[in-house]
Amino acid sequence: MRVRVLHDYEALSLAAAEEVAETLRSRPDAVLLLPTGTTPLGMYRRLAEMHRRAGLSFARATFFNLDEYLGLPPDHVASYRAYMHRNFYSLVDADPRRIHCPNGAAPDPEAECERYEAEIRRCGGADLCVLGIGRNGHIGFNEPGAPFGSRTRIVRLAESTRRVNARDFEEGRVPEHAITVGMATIFESRRILLLASGASKARAVAAAIEGDISESVPASLLRRHPDAAFLLDGEAAAGL
Ligand code: GLP
Repeated sequence: MRVRVLHDYEALSLAAAEEVAETLRSRPDAVLLLPTGTTPLGMYRRLAEMHRRAGLSFARATFFNLDEYLGLPPDHVASYRAYMHRNFYSLVDADPRRIHCPNGAAPDPEAECERYEAEIRRCGGADLCVLGIGRNGHIGFNEPGAPFGSRTRIVRLAESTRRVNARDFEEGRVPEHAITVGMATIFESRRILLLASGASKARAVAAAIEGDISESVPASLLRRHPDAAFLLDGEAAAGL
């Protein structure tokens, strides 16, 4: 597993965007598994710039969201589907027919998880998975304890995650559950890139890179992957 420490958030965002662009140049029909959160916003901004200025095309790529809150209508401003459209898909030439996100308002959420997992498999799995990391080491919404063999499923969010994510919700009413792509599905991605920025991530990053490989630190699983990289800024790398 590679670890790259960039000097600040801007450099991290540019390096991440370059890795995505490289994947698309070598394989324009790549399947991408993508994160939400504040960390990847700079990467999406850079990718939109590369599209506008350098003609980088996303038209043949296929996109999957890593996760979605359960019980939110898809057009809810805090839904991850809305986030991805606002911050990325609407700014590039992504083909709406190739954009996938779990439907958090599906009448049968269990069936929705199975459908989503089957869709990822039908597309051949992800060529590149980009991840953020939670302060407790979560990836997607795979909270500590998530089985390494897990697939797309419904999960209960950790209270600490709900507290952090309360910033995205009026009156802080964060859903208690979410749909997340599982650990095994993430691990099967041909390439994985984890982005971490800021001092609040330093402990989780150090645990993932230097602690035991354990389900109690989901991001530690990446160390078993043949082509995974951590992209960090100096603050996130401070515990190493
Ligand atoms: C959220 C998302 C994760 C994300 C993480 C970190 O809960 N489900 O996919 O990586 O938290 O978010 P941020 O980048 O805002 O710190």
